[in-house]
Amino acid sequence: MAFTLLLRILTSNHRRHSRRLPPGPLPFPIIGHLPLIGPLPHRSLHRLSASYGPVLRLLLGSSPLIVVNSPSAARDVFKTHDLAFSDRPRSYASLRYAYGSPGFAFGPYGPYWRFMKRLCVSELLGAQTLDALRPIRQEERLRLVALLRDARETFNVSEELLKASNNGIIRMVTGMGDGGGVDEVRALVKGVAETVGTLNLSDFVWVLRGVDVRGVKRRIDEVHRRFDEVLERIIGRKEEERRRRGGGGGLGRAKDLLDILLEVAGDEKAEFKLTRENIKGFVLDIFTAGSDTTAAVLEWALSELINNPTIQHKAQQELDSVVGKHRLVEESDVPNLPYLQSIVKETLRLHPAAPISHRIATRDAKILDYDVPADTIVFINMWSLHRPERFEDRAAEEMQKNLLHYAPFGGGRRGCPGELLGLDVLHMTLGLLVQCFEWEVVGGRVDMEEGVGLTLPRENPLVCLPRVRLNPFPYIHG
Ligand code: HEM
Repeated sequence: MAFTLLLRILTSNHRRHSRRLPPGPLPFPIIGHLPLIGPLPHRSLHRLSASYGPVLRLLLGSSPLIVVNSPSAARDVFKTHDLAFSDRPRSYASLRYAYGSPGFAFGPYGPYWRFMKRLCVSELLGAQTLDALRPIRQEERLRLVALLRDARETFNVSEELLKASNNGIIRMVTGMGDGGGVDEVRALVKGVAETVGTLNLSDFVWVLRGVDVRGVKRRIDEVHRRFDEVLERIIGRKEEERRRRGGGGGLGRAKDLLDILLEVAGDEKAEFKLTRENIKGFVLDIFTAGSDTTAAVLEWALSELINNPTIQHKAQQELDSVVGKHRLVEESDVPNLPYLQSIVKETLRLHPAAPISHRIATRDAKILDYDVPADTIVFINMWSLHRPERFEDRAAEEMQKNLLHYAPFGGGRRGCPGELLGLDVLHMTLGLLVQCFEWEVVGGRVDMEEGVGLTLPRENPLVCLPRVRLNPFPYIHG
């Protein structure tokens, strides 16, 4: 017995020492490498890879972290060993906002996640639902166009883009009209995004576990409480409507995401019994993951077009020749607008709205030749994959078929389920804004400074007065 124990200790020690771990700088005591990460992690981690190579090892406080900065290493996470990296690290915010349920966007890879992923693909974020809810998105876009058309002085375009895309998501999820209720939810979504995006030291530094550093936990609890009140009100109204219909008869309108979720929750035969907590947690996930992302990409796209007028004019020529000047661009035009699509792709390359994918290894695995022990946090720096240095990655070149040079929506089974919706919003909104207006600023150039935040926003809002370029201006319904 004692002999077996001794043998086990010796072999496990041997295994630990024979592991080939990635290189990395020396850590500070207790806080690890937190001071090296800074407010723009995609940039600092990219810089560190210049000294330590494409895969590096750090300590996020006291939690081991491996950072991936090259296409071939990303391929190992997103493709070769996808299953081993299909979980996400937990934080106080993600647990709280998941209502103690397993959670989807930040939750473990398990039966609940698999059920919700299937539901996302087949229904919630599938083509049919997106088509049915198109009028909501179009209404928000046209409201923005009309606002810009009638503006007489310079305008905070960033703020209005955020409002239009967040209102679109909130209304697609809840079916709310365009009244004051949406403003209230939007303010709460902002609170959730801010708290999820704040680095909470007690999540990573073991001596601070249980301590509420700078009141972050208190703020999360407060946002959660206020959100819960609003969600209960919205769900209560939906349940009342369902009761009035007696479970039968059509809705007389397109089903929103909450209608679908409540229907699945009421289905006794469903493979997974959705609880109210599951539903509320999922709604919060969609608000957090789907709201600010598209707005951030749009403000960068417009900034790039202001600084590159030749590209802006070429996009306008394409729109003029495909759509003309007497009607507004429609969804059915998008396949015929390859240059507009290229601008969206290129903007996502330069300014990916979720620059780092956060994963955790569920078991011992490999990235390139390095060992990754189970429970190690793994960051895949997509911003870094998109830099020109990606062409220096010989291993990736050899694997031409599996290149991961470009992954603005992440990859593998935990890749973004909102890609279809995100691209639809980007193509249509940018198409309208470029078709209807001439974008310029006093002095000719906008600054391109990145701000702090989950979605890589601009540091300074885009403020300008776009010039109307269609005369007469096509009729806008509603
Ligand atoms: C331009 C817009 C968007 C970009 C650039 C983007 C990017 C991303 C990225 C990089 C991830 C992490 C993927 C990974 O770890 O491999 C992600 C996850 C996610 N996104 Fe998006 N996204 C966008 C829009 C949306 C929209 C519109 C929705 C929903 C309405 C959405 C819902 C989600 C969800 C739920 C997850 C978590 C998925 C999971 O953990 O299984 N995203 N997104």
